[in-house]
Amino acid sequence: MSGIGIEGGCCLTGEMEIQGSKNAVLPVLAASILHSGVTVFTHVPDIADVRASLEILELLGARTEFREHFVRIDATGIIPREIPKALGEKMRSSVLFLGPLLARFREGILYRPGGCAIGKRPVDYHLAGLSRIGAELEEESGRIRASANHLAGGTVMLPYPSVGATEQLLLAACGADGPTQILGAAREPEIVTLCRYLKMAGAEITGEGSSEIVIRGFQPVRREIRFRIPGDRIAAGSYLAAAAVTKGRLYIKGIHPNHLWASICGFRSMGCELRLEPEGILLSAPERLTALPFLSTDPYPAFPTDMQSAFLSMMAVAAGTSVMKENVFEKRLAMAAELNRMGADIRVDGNQAFCTGVERLHGTTVYGTDLRSGAGLIAAALAADGITTVEGFEYVERGYENMIELLQTLGARVWRITE
Ligand code: EPZ
Repeated sequence: MSGIGIEGGCCLTGEMEIQGSKNAVLPVLAASILHSGVTVFTHVPDIADVRASLEILELLGARTEFREHFVRIDATGIIPREIPKALGEKMRSSVLFLGPLLARFREGILYRPGGCAIGKRPVDYHLAGLSRIGAELEEESGRIRASANHLAGGTVMLPYPSVGATEQLLLAACGADGPTQILGAAREPEIVTLCRYLKMAGAEITGEGSSEIVIRGFQPVRREIRFRIPGDRIAAGSYLAAAAVTKGRLYIKGIHPNHLWASICGFRSMGCELRLEPEGILLSAPERLTALPFLSTDPYPAFPTDMQSAFLSMMAVAAGTSVMKENVFEKRLAMAAELNRMGADIRVDGNQAFCTGVERLHGTTVYGTDLRSGAGLIAAALAADGITTVEGFEYVERGYENMIELLQTLGARVWRITE
């Protein structure tokens, strides 16, 4: 377990370029299997989940290079090998390799990804959708084999706008003979990014960004594909929240405000001033944040569950009483107990957190059990009195590139703790 030490009382100030998006890069790395040639990705975040994806691609026979935020993948020599449990368990998005393997080779074998602290995270929508377009599925002790003599395409109705299941179906449908229609699709910007890559690789797709997407066919291109990963909207929101809670002033370049619109409305409702540019956000924090009477997480374009922890930290020190309702992941309010150990006053009842803001939090040792709760606790610690250790920093490093160095350049007194 690794940790980060934080001396509170700082005021995050300065400007930064946001890293490439974790939740955008992971599906397109899996999609590179569909392109039997070279893809060069730029603005790739140097984070653990990217390295785990490259390990899987190498195991499948791709040749990969990763330097200076460039990733080069030659997927010419890929073969449908089984993805071992140890490798697949490193991250949730390993399950996304099933669809492209099925599309290109008519077979994919991997293990059910682990659930994690935020919830059970089943893959039933993924599997039901794949069988809907013609895949045969066998599962034994978590090992999933998907195979198909023929992927026919068809209409898949998702019971919930699942991001992963939408991505899975987009990837598999590229191997289907007929058109595939996804009804009830997720609308997140990461879906639009994946479709942009698939179109460059030869797919014919319409409706991305809406709840009805149609994949009409896939004519693989031969030429090299060059693809830039968009800025990470959740990482940007996390750093903006850290500035908001420390009375700071932060300018973030490389982010489209309209991909964070619900969070921007939340920041403003809590008293922050935000100046928006086509590819940048400047946040100026108030002396003290104002409570938010009610905020709930829901699929895009609503307020994102990945920003819930960051806003809960802001609510913990805001003037007044706030209510946060978590509608997406059943265990994602667990971070409240850690904030209470820092002196917060949060009562959790089911999937709602009732938070009475306090003037100051105090330092102690707390545990981040997923990357977003880790980032939320770090924001709270930056504003608290005294020294805080946030354990579980290895989870944070799965999605945030060079966070310690970045926070130091913005004026924070933070250091790495290794056991
Ligand atoms: C993606 O996870 C993101 N991860 C998550 O970010 C994000 O929180 C989530 O979408 C929602 O926006 C990546 O993109 C790598 P879902 P995903 O399928 O695809 C249930 C982070 O912190 N569900 O939209 O797993 C599920 O349990 C991570 O960066 C099923 O029941 O999310 C959850 O309650 C955390 N069966 C809800 O749907 C399924 O087959 C939303 O899950 C699939 C999902």
